Amino acid sequence: MSDFNGRTVVAFESRLAEIMSESIRRHGGHPLVAPSMQEIPLEKNPEILAFGEKLMAGEIDVVVLLTGVGVRIMMRLLESHSPREALVKAFSRATTVARGPKPVRALSEFGIPVTLNVPEPNTWREILEVLDTSKRSLDLKGKTVAIQEYGESNEALIDGLKKRGARVIQVPVYRWAFPDDTRPLESAIAEIIGGKAALVFFTSAMQVRHVLRLATEKGLDSALMAALKQTVIASIGPTCSETLREYGLPVDFEPTHPKMGHLVAESARQLPHLLEEKAQAPQFQLEKRGADPADGKRKREQSLFLKACRREPTDVTPIWLMRQAGRYMKEYRRIRDRVGFLELCKNKELCAQVAIEAQEKIKADAAILFSDILLIVEPLGFGLEYAQGDGPVISGGLSSRAHVDKIPEADPRDSLAYVMDAVKLTRACLKPEIPLLGFSAAPFTLAAYILEGGSSKLFLQTKKFMARDAGAWHALMEKMSRLLGRYLNAQIEAGADAVQIFDSWVGCLSPSDYREFVLPHTQRLIRSVTPGVPVVHFGTGTAPFLEHLREAGGDVIGVDFHVELDHAWTRLGHDVGIQGNLDPAALFGPREVLQEKARRILDQAGGRPGHIFNLGHGVLPGTPVDNVIALIDFVHNASAKARTGQART
Ligand code: CP3
Repeated sequence: MSDFNGRTVVAFESRLAEIMSESIRRHGGHPLVAPSMQEIPLEKNPEILAFGEKLMAGEIDVVVLLTGVGVRIMMRLLESHSPREALVKAFSRATTVARGPKPVRALSEFGIPVTLNVPEPNTWREILEVLDTSKRSLDLKGKTVAIQEYGESNEALIDGLKKRGARVIQVPVYRWAFPDDTRPLESAIAEIIGGKAALVFFTSAMQVRHVLRLATEKGLDSALMAALKQTVIASIGPTCSETLREYGLPVDFEPTHPKMGHLVAESARQLPHLLEEKAQAPQFQLEKRGADPADGKRKREQSLFLKACRREPTDVTPIWLMRQAGRYMKEYRRIRDRVGFLELCKNKELCAQVAIEAQEKIKADAAILFSDILLIVEPLGFGLEYAQGDGPVISGGLSSRAHVDKIPEADPRDSLAYVMDAVKLTRACLKPEIPLLGFSAAPFTLAAYILEGGSSKLFLQTKKFMARDAGAWHALMEKMSRLLGRYLNAQIEAGADAVQIFDSWVGCLSPSDYREFVLPHTQRLIRSVTPGVPVVHFGTGTAPFLEHLREAGGDVIGVDFHVELDHAWTRLGHDVGIQGNLDPAALFGPREVLQEKARRILDQAGGRPGHIFNLGHGVLPGTPVDNVIALIDFVHNASAKARTGQART
């Protein structure tokens, strides 16, 4: 058992300042708790009274209650105008949605029944999810939803409700102001800037805003930001973390449950480890690069990667690796210790950081957007989960033509706006001369994932669907190809320089089935990609029908390691580029064997323009990073030497 060991721990609690101080002290820390805000109840709140009238008149269908304190203030005010029984009756007629245990407790104090309980981590995402998946099958279209708000409005929640067709009434209950005396807060800020704090707690999003606002008012914002980046930052939960990241601050620790007790006890236990990581980790900082976008674009056009896509000769063979940003890298694992995979994919700052940090660390000639091929199933109405160890799980099922026809014509520009935001930010912060790849699944791999509900060995559901109702299959594939075309073009619009299409599972098909059931659809997708933007068309297990893959299209064909690169290229024809194809297992070493295998592939490519070195499939978890760096170095040097007689400088 370790504790804070006499170190200074800063917190910004207001209402619970005493409890926080005591808790830090109990864990051996020296507490510095400076209230950052005070609650201003809106005693004569006209919005609450208007809400009360509407509720009594039966004009409110759903009430979302965000905080316990808010519920109590709201009820106190409402009770000064109407008797409690009448209020309870009015609430009972509506659907009440409580965001976690605190509003549940407050509601039960007044005898108001809770219809829907929002699970942890209690963010707006879970609120919408609960509404979407409720057994009462709440169609929000045309319904009136009231939100009891806390301080600031939650735009994402309001937006989500409006998108579902609801009319939203905001009921602000209390607002926050600076405390009357801001001196304690100023001295806490000074302590952090002076490097005296070992750990800083943030227990609400509003605290983050207030602390930084005060620092800005005092002209200390950049000093504070710089100091905070050197300090261990512990956040109570996802909403608070999201706000910290919006400000570009790292979140080093989040407790297993978003509770103060967990936060203090767990961070006390982890502090030595957190301090060590902080001291070791070179802090990655996202910063916008390249003041002149047009100049960056020109430089990239002459990059090794894009030249190879156009089959122009290069002095050096370009190389990047599928899954170059992933679990084999400790920087990635450190982030994944704190955030779930889906949450990571939906956070543009983290996506940009992961993609750029990987590219810079291994010196790859291209970066790939950090995202996943399966995110697109959500806007199609399917559930998506990445279960630990079991890979992705897609729920909702798909078994009939009728359902195929019901899949919405989603526009990924809107429904996957977070992906486009990640592309834009990654592009802005990536070195201007490094091309950025966007990507999507191929229609077959996406359809198969949906039909199987996840990963599969036999692809029986997919093959049954194809065999039993060819019409439905083609309708599904046509829909997928158009959808994916819109998706790729939206990424290109957002800043992707090239795109890769992953048909990871297509190798389960016979050549004739590929030809009949897949080729026309992948072809339609590839033809719909914005002209002039290179397409890498990748599949695994495609050796039996490489010619068909070629016919489906792509400027570069990605091949796996079940085929020799020279044989594959001869079959594809040298008028198309090739990407591949080292067995990812070779990266486990030893180094000489790795280099020998890489050299063999370079020899097979023979210096012909249009070869992009890559693996035959993604980097595996557990791969030693040093071997990845050594491989990239080797490919650069050996290819340069073969062509110019000199290793790459
Ligand atoms: O660096 C990169 O290549 C960019 C990011 C990227 C990911 N997935 C991140 C990811 C890309 C291009 C993909 C594509 C993808 N996703 C494919 C095609 C490539 C292939 O491997 O054939 C497929 C089939 C998927 C679906 C998928 N996503 C699976 C099967 C899994 C779980 C199994 C696994 O390998 O972990 C994922 C999760 C996933 N996607 C992870 C990463 C880094 C691991 C998630 C984690 O952190 O636990």
